[in-house]
Amino acid sequence: MAKKVLIIGAGGVGRVVAHKCAEYPEVFSDITLASRTKSKCDAIAVDVKAKTGREIHTAQVDADRVPELVALIREVKPFMIINVALPYQDLTIMDACLETGVHYLDTANYEPKDEAKFEYKWQWAYQDRFREAGLMALLGSGFDPGVTNVFCAHALKHHFDEIHTVDILDCNGGDHGLPFATNFNPEINIREITQNGRYWENGHWVETKPMQYRRTFDFEGVGKKNMYLLYHEEMESLCRNLPGLKRIRFWMTFGESYLKHLEVIHNLGLDSIEPIEFEGHKIVPLQFLKALLPDPASLGPRTKGKTNIGCIVTGTKGGGKPFTRYIYNICDHQEAYRETGAQAVSYTTGVPAMIGAKLMCESTWLESGVWNMEQRDPDPFMRDLNACGLPWKDIEFKPLDEVAPQQ
Ligand SMILES: NC(=O)c1ccc[n+]([C@@H]2O[C@H](COP(=O)([O-])OP(=O)(O)OC[C@H]3O[C@@H](n4cnc5c(N)ncnc54)[C@H](OP(=O)(O)O)[C@@H]3O)[C@@H](O)[C@H]2O)c1
Repeated sequence: MAKKVLIIGAGGVGRVVAHKCAEYPEVFSDITLASRTKSKCDAIAVDVKAKTGREIHTAQVDADRVPELVALIREVKPFMIINVALPYQDLTIMDACLETGVHYLDTANYEPKDEAKFEYKWQWAYQDRFREAGLMALLGSGFDPGVTNVFCAHALKHHFDEIHTVDILDCNGGDHGLPFATNFNPEINIREITQNGRYWENGHWVETKPMQYRRTFDFEGVGKKNMYLLYHEEMESLCRNLPGLKRIRFWMTFGESYLKHLEVIHNLGLDSIEPIEFEGHKIVPLQFLKALLPDPASLGPRTKGKTNIGCIVTGTKGGGKPFTRYIYNICDHQEAYRETGAQAVSYTTGVPAMIGAKLMCESTWLESGVWNMEQRDPDPFMRDLNACGLPWKDIEFKPLDEVAPQQ
């Protein structure tokens, strides 16, 4: 039976989730989109109606406040919440889900506002409470985290007994023609990139300086790009859940102009999250910068090119010689925009959020407790990726160190 869903967050990703849920009335019978600014929800609702013919409801909510969330959930009575607000709201929304008996899904792990530190420990601490309440919380159902975790689970199920190394490659080959803009929330994006990098090897985290390691990789659909080693949240759960894993790293591409701007921003202290005194007001430099930068939602119509995100996985089967598979998706910015009014970075996050919710609503993935994506059966998710707009390839490959040596 089709279910009611409540989507929280009306940014680029919320726009895609609303459009994609509306495309599947047999799964999502009734959709409410709520966010801090109701007018943004209303604008998305008009577009959803124009594109899909479906009416969706809208509401205002401050998701930092549990009582407001509880009141809204009691009014809407959804089966589950799709949280695509900011990572700061994860815990308040999980608390409200527990109080009202509603399932939960998000795309990014909790991060305290005053500390640029994202870790699963806060959300994993909800495990017993969700299990005892008979509720499910699905964590990180975007692309990375999300699809990248499912690609690893697929590799383990269909190719390997043991996975030895994983390299996650995230390439955005899109060009918006502006000197500097971020493709999703600038505050979250810049906090992620300016931190020290980290990868996991032989049971330990190895810390690196920001942008310390660079490689050039030839991405299908995009071409040759420089990519840099970063910390990314899916490594925290994958290093626990992949048997035999010896090393996992994450790489993201950046253009020269983007890095130059970031360096200047950093040198000026504009990426700081420490409040400063300015003309009698306290302001946070990074939040001030966010106000100056283009709204990521405005990049949709002007972004051309493709994203290519995937996993290079090496391992063994039946005690044989190590071999490598490369599993990836290519997504076109303009096609994503035509379908949902958002560019590919929002599209590649919003579609997997809808698929995770679909598998929960259909009971395919539904199970009490707090789950990371690689802990569920990858097959139905991989099937839906192909059917819902993010087709993937799974090919024989060489280890990353052979195709793109260290520079
Ligand atoms: N896993 C992945 O692959 C992946 C990739 C990209 C992004 N993400 C995650 O996806 C989420 C959404 O990203 P986005 O690019 O859509 O961000 P965005 O454009 O900044 O949108 C965030 C939305 O959340 C709303 N919001 C913020 N605080 C709120 C609060 N206290 N109460 C209610 N609503 C609130 C904002 O409201 P206002 O409009 O009023 O500001 C905005 O509409 C983020 O958590 C991001 O980290 C995941």
